[in-house]
Amino acid sequence: MSDAPSTLHAAATVLDEASAAAVAALSPRSRDTLNTVLTHASLRRFEPEPLPGDVVAALEAALVRGPTSSALHSYTHVLVGDVQSKRELARLAGDQPWIAAAPLLIVGCADLRRAREVTHGQGYRYTAHDLRMLISATADLTIGLQNASLVAQSLGYGTVLIGGVLDGSLVIAQRLGLPRRVVPLIGLSIGRPAVGRLPPPRPRLPLRLLVHHERWSLDAATEEALLTEHDRATRARGDFEGRRIRWLEVGGGERDPVPVGEYGWREHTARKQGRDSWGPQGAKVDHDLAAQELRVSSTGEVDEPPG
Ligand SMILES: Cc1cc2nc3c(=O)[nH]c(=O)nc-3n(C[C@H](O)[C@H](O)[C@H](O)COP(=O)(O)O)c2cc1C
Repeated sequence: MSDAPSTLHAAATVLDEASAAAVAALSPRSRDTLNTVLTHASLRRFEPEPLPGDVVAALEAALVRGPTSSALHSYTHVLVGDVQSKRELARLAGDQPWIAAAPLLIVGCADLRRAREVTHGQGYRYTAHDLRMLISATADLTIGLQNASLVAQSLGYGTVLIGGVLDGSLVIAQRLGLPRRVVPLIGLSIGRPAVGRLPPPRPRLPLRLLVHHERWSLDAATEEALLTEHDRATRARGDFEGRRIRWLEVGGGERDPVPVGEYGWREHTARKQGRDSWGPQGAKVDHDLAAQELRVSSTGEVDEPPG
């Protein structure tokens, strides 16, 4: 993408100056990949034009070409381009209008059906009922979605992951005609950017908070100082002002006591995790997963083969 931000500029949003320069100086061939990875920014304003067939084929290849835990392929992806279906899925996945606006939604599903059928088909009991299956299925499908996202971005498209799919998992599964144990978890919306290019890369927490070498290397005072500086910068830029979680949603009243300019990463994070709706929403997710027979704790249960 000729109008993508430079690798150097993007690298400098997460690395110090010398490291960013070193990364940008890597071979031009690597730099294409680096540029795609480092210039990532979620897109939420799309052109409506459908994706051409060759692009869809490239996305399909990317969805399945990544590693898969134990070669199980414990995922299934459903590509949804139909306008009416996307509108309905946008509503079910937390009322997110960009899902309807993007020409393509990929619904990433944990597939715990296929391996169970094969196990029974071979005459064995199925015993893999624990959190490991959910974790490996989620890893598998997320790798596929991220690879598809990078391919899309390398071709000039933009994407946004849709964790909101989990909020409507059971009904979405019904709408898509999914068999039991094929469970929608995360989506990916894809399309051309409405303004012709991706937004600039968004800030990240300082690298020292997110990456350690060899072993944990962060003391409480350093962590506090780095978080405070990050919070100050997000407040100064107003990064979260347009996305405020209402005071009402965390048990407060109509009038938000936090003035403009004081709402930063810390307040946003705290409100996100402390919303009144978290409890019932969490219970609904548990219910939806259980209703689709996706078990998350080890029950010692064994499914005998039929017959
Ligand atoms: C697992 C996951 C789920 C996400 N779910 C949503 C979502 O439902 N809606 C949305 O608009 N963005 C979603 N996002 C995108 C994040 O909001 C975004 O990555 C984050 O704000 C950082 O912005 P950036 O991707 O532009 O750097 C999700 C991201 C991840 C990794």
